[in-house]
Amino acid sequence: SSKMESITDILHQLFHTAICAAFPDITDPPVVIAVAASNPKFGDYQCNSAMPIANIYKQSGKKVTPRNLAQKILDNLPSHPMVEKCEIAGPGFINIFLNRDYAVKKLQAIFQNGVQPPTVERKKIIIDFSSPNIAKEMHVGHLRSTIIGETIARLLEFLNFEVHRINHIGDWGTQFGMLIAHLQDRFPDHLEKMPPISDLQSFYKEAKERFDEDEEFKKRAYDSVVKLQSFEPKHIKAWKLICDVSRKEFQKIYDRLDITLKERGESFYQTRTEKIVKELEEAGFLENDDGRKIMWGDESTTVPFTIVKSDGGFTYDSSDMAAIKHRLQEEKADWVIYVVDSGQATHFQILFACAKKAGILDPKKHRVDFVGFGVVLGEDKKKFKTRSGDSIRLVDLLDKGLEKALDKLKEKGRDKVLTPDELKRAQESVAYGCIKYADLSHNRNHEYIFSFDKMLEDKGNTAVYLLYAFTRIRSIARTANFTPEKIKELSKKENISLEHEKEWKLGKVLLRFPDEILKTLNDLYPHHICEYVYEIATTFTEFYDSCYCVEKDSSGDIVKVNYGRILLAEATAMIMEKCFHILGLKPVEKM
Ligand code: ARG
Repeated sequence: SSKMESITDILHQLFHTAICAAFPDITDPPVVIAVAASNPKFGDYQCNSAMPIANIYKQSGKKVTPRNLAQKILDNLPSHPMVEKCEIAGPGFINIFLNRDYAVKKLQAIFQNGVQPPTVERKKIIIDFSSPNIAKEMHVGHLRSTIIGETIARLLEFLNFEVHRINHIGDWGTQFGMLIAHLQDRFPDHLEKMPPISDLQSFYKEAKERFDEDEEFKKRAYDSVVKLQSFEPKHIKAWKLICDVSRKEFQKIYDRLDITLKERGESFYQTRTEKIVKELEEAGFLENDDGRKIMWGDESTTVPFTIVKSDGGFTYDSSDMAAIKHRLQEEKADWVIYVVDSGQATHFQILFACAKKAGILDPKKHRVDFVGFGVVLGEDKKKFKTRSGDSIRLVDLLDKGLEKALDKLKEKGRDKVLTPDELKRAQESVAYGCIKYADLSHNRNHEYIFSFDKMLEDKGNTAVYLLYAFTRIRSIARTANFTPEKIKELSKKENISLEHEKEWKLGKVLLRFPDEILKTLNDLYPHHICEYVYEIATTFTEFYDSCYCVEKDSSGDIVKVNYGRILLAEATAMIMEKCFHILGLKPVEKM
């Protein structure tokens, strides 16, 4: 096919065949394929299997040298149009050089079919992300989950999986008792007309204060929970009202950041939780511990799940048991992904262990991932807070981003060249892009320091740098009057040029696209894609510095257009654009 394929996959197969044929006496021989160092003399890729194979022979007393083994591998290597030649170097490395005609053909296909994903087996995937709690502020931790989850969902969708984006919001539990009781007191007519609660935060605080001080209120709060959990209509209505207030606030954030989610909160699992608790009980998995019912996972876990509290109520643990069962057994998902802060790593370790024990999760059939991430710190390296010590509201944070992005654009004098409309689009692209990219470009396991000044820098691996680089690349073809349609026409007559050393270097980076996508699919670390798109941008700059695409005379008239390079620039832009889409970055034509 003319579609781009994973280079390392192809090499792995070729060398696997060669090594099995060369050493039939070794079962399961090591096949080690690596991308070569940037020095072109070491080839583009390497097969480093000769050394570990020599070790296997040496252990059984045979005298071999890795160089001879490398030669034997090459003698058995099937030919493939992707591989130009192989050379043995040093103690027994095999340097692999790619074929340019093959590269041209693969990149050329982009113009006809767009940037296509590598082929993977279709799966049904449920991704649980964002998941804030009703009546509490959506905080920066939820922001991370939202940004990382959205990107993973986009990656999976690009690969044509069946993806379900689930918002597991905290909308059930004992706190609703006091919220409903307080609502009944404060807005007795709430069942007739929508109560004017603008700030659910302080409403929550008021309710909590009464709960802690007023015994009578506390008792009513408990009664309300019981009524709510038995679905008494008036209490359900009050509960819905409260949820709606939060929901509207969450949606504002999602709209601004272009996030899609389907809400299926903890309340959804109430009856399923009752059912699974019974099942676990009957199967003998529950142990009595001082009145509560607990369930142990496996040897790897040191804390149990609390399935039923001593007052008979259910917990975060039990609703997650019901949810994983629903996802794997009812929805029949092949893969479930949880994007939640690393503070909950233990919770998910126990969840997976208990689900296995209960026969809900079958590791041979299902894949489950806990995608954790570190905490967000302020520039003072302390927990991200406002000056007065309150936690930062996400709306305020996004507003601040818009303000800072506009400052940045003005500093560059863009307000004088762009129309007000273009300026606004550039401002939003930069503001939301920089917030997302700063988060995604760091290894998600690490804590990360939130700094507008850092994320708005226009040098280095930042959204601003990349968005500018992209706009510049796109404008190259445009200045030579090439519209996307004309590019497509041109590509039928002309080939991408990969002759010049810098063209070839860029071409090889672009060819890695399927590998970078598959690597990210494998470990769910979005920063791989950030590093890759940054490498594309810097390699493009190297190319552009030494190769002209459009030559102009002193009066600015175009005298010569290098079509092969126009095509290379366009392929670069198209691959960058695909990466941007996955990362949730929205490039603009002018900025
Ligand atoms: N609402 C929870 C929190 O804010 C996150 C829920 C994550 N998803 C899950 N299935 N437990 O901490």
